[in-house]
Amino acid sequence: MKCILIDCDPGHDDMMAIMLACSSPELKLLGVTTVGGNQTGEKTYLNALKTLTLIGERDIPVARGADKPLFRELTVAPEIHGVSGLDGADLPEPGFEGVVRHAVDFLIQTIMESGTPLTLVPTGPLTNVALAMLKDPRITTKLERIVLMGGAVFDSNITPAAEFNIYVDPEAAKVVFGSGVPVTMVGLDVTNKALFGFDDIERLARSNGKVSRVVAPLLKFFAQANKTIFGFEGAPLHDALAVAHLIKPEVIKTRRLNVEIETDGELTRGRTVADVYGVTGKPANTDVALEVDNDLFKELLVQAIKILDSR
Ligand code: RIB
Ligand code: CA
Repeated sequence: MKCILIDCDPGHDDMMAIMLACSSPELKLLGVTTVGGNQTGEKTYLNALKTLTLIGERDIPVARGADKPLFRELTVAPEIHGVSGLDGADLPEPGFEGVVRHAVDFLIQTIMESGTPLTLVPTGPLTNVALAMLKDPRITTKLERIVLMGGAVFDSNITPAAEFNIYVDPEAAKVVFGSGVPVTMVGLDVTNKALFGFDDIERLARSNGKVSRVVAPLLKFFAQANKTIFGFEGAPLHDALAVAHLIKPEVIKTRRLNVEIETDGELTRGRTVADVYGVTGKPANTDVALEVDNDLFKELLVQAIKILDSR
């Protein structure tokens, strides 16, 4: 069993990442930390508590983190996730309190006290992770791996050059990619292909379970927003794919590449600059996802919701 921590900005796809992690016998979710991103820090924290309440997980610690990037103002994404950050259905009010500690201190303490190396799964801007590394660099030697949703080699979303999580806090991403911790980058090159289609959503709605009857309209909202803006025929469940890789590694195929983060470019802020042809001669520092098995991914998601419906 792999012990993991999720640092997230729920967000519809962050919600699916949490649900996938909680339903899998292969994973033990030790905690959830939240960060400003898809919506404000207050809203993403509330959404994490609501998500765990919906699936009956009231013993997983939730710690609230940074409300804004290291040096920049926060960019939110209401056009994709709505005003609440989880528009499309009413989730239950939180049935438990989060922890009092700041997410950065929770991450440091949990990582340092763990008897086994943990895997950290960031699915939002990397502000909390960078702050934790800067506050206590020892965690970089204790983490087994960081499997993050973010970046892209050939794709983009928030600007023509960048992916949202990296764009929001490129300086934090630079710290994380340069930390020496093994990084798997699950970027838009695969997650924009990891679509949960409108037909898949309809099937989920028909199952009418206590979780699926809430998740279906949420995913319909998210899918419609992505269709409107990007022309996608479904919901790209970006963050859940990072977790799926920990359950079934073969759900993606990766290549080791050198990846560096652009922090200064006027047009290219937040670009994950991947040296696909090795022209820089710099050593590869990241396992970059370039292929996805979407049938396997959807199978994992459908199975996860079935398990949560039956609990
Ligand atoms: O670019 C997609 C990423 O940004 C996902 O993690 C989504 O939830 C948003 O955080
Ligand atoms: Ca996210």
